[in-house]
Amino acid sequence: MVYLDNAATSWPKPEAVYRAVAECVKEYGANPGRSGHRMAMRAGEIIMECRENLARLFGIPDPLRIVFTSNGTEAINLALKGLLAPGDHVLLSGMEHNAVARPLKKLESAGVELSIVKTDPEGKADGADIAVKARPNTKLLVVTHASNVTGTVNDMDFLGRLAREHNIAFMVDAAQTAGNTPIDVGGMHIDLLAFPGHKGLLGPQGTGCLYVGEGITLDTLKEGGTGSLSESLDQPDFLPDRYESGTLNTPGIAGLNEGIKFILETGIGSIREHEKQLVRYMLEGLKEINKVKVYGSGDLEQRTGVISIAIDQKDCHEVCAELDEKYGVAVRGGLHCACLAHETLGTLRTGTIRFSIGYFNTIEDINKALAAVRAIAGA
Ligand code: ALA
Repeated sequence: MVYLDNAATSWPKPEAVYRAVAECVKEYGANPGRSGHRMAMRAGEIIMECRENLARLFGIPDPLRIVFTSNGTEAINLALKGLLAPGDHVLLSGMEHNAVARPLKKLESAGVELSIVKTDPEGKADGADIAVKARPNTKLLVVTHASNVTGTVNDMDFLGRLAREHNIAFMVDAAQTAGNTPIDVGGMHIDLLAFPGHKGLLGPQGTGCLYVGEGITLDTLKEGGTGSLSESLDQPDFLPDRYESGTLNTPGIAGLNEGIKFILETGIGSIREHEKQLVRYMLEGLKEINKVKVYGSGDLEQRTGVISIAIDQKDCHEVCAELDEKYGVAVRGGLHCACLAHETLGTLRTGTIRFSIGYFNTIEDINKALAAVRAIAGA
């Protein structure tokens, strides 16, 4: 199988990830931060090590401000529902995933006001429109770092500065960039960074995180046991305990830790470069196939490994099924849980066929995918 569905979840993972999950479950899978015996201590140490490695990767000064969640969506829900109250105004980009758009829609029905920032035809948020739409009650600007539909990358330095100038908190959905594109929360003025562990970070499913910047206080989504202050019925007010009630996914986090170590050892620059080379090769190949339309930016600096296409009038789900069944190429078709983005692109009715490249893909994989597209397009 040629796996080109890394935007949905990365596969394969580094061998060390599989080993760490199995080792944790089998050798020391006790409850971290609860009991004092050595197995529980080891589980707690692995979780702390993972926080520290994430902090290194994203330039986070205090690892304890990283909260583990079960996925990126939970991290986003915690940030949005924890921060916003009726009467607050939020700016969001027109390329947001349903993980952002749906909680905001629900908050809107409770009195939170929303404005969608204009995007250019490639899906980049328009800074000038942010300045136009900002109001005295604007509390948050939330933007996807890169679209899961087109791969278009937003300029975080610019948007972060703009949010800071307007005294608006800046939240980034890094679902498509964490692990494959440099992120520096300080340099980018990021107040809230939400990301899954199972995509670019190469960890297992069931892992995600929210970085909560200094000066940001969120209401809790859930309360319960934290292993700390057990004498009190009140939820602890310190991080990460305030937001981490219930037993963590220790085997998943042990695997995620190895994924992050792999990224730190390989270098985010090398990962980005490898994916960029493959994207360049695929875009050049697609350009030569009649009847194929490619969405997103032509500038490699402004896109990740996601490539969405349409083939003439062909139904995208039928094309994806053919890619899988006849050519052994795994991709995702349709609306990619991102109706807002497809509305912005004008593809809400048709959807797109999405190829998403990861670090373990090769030129041979891309050649096989191009040959399959050529055959399906009848070119
Ligand atoms: N958000 C993931 C995707 O784009 C699941 O496929």
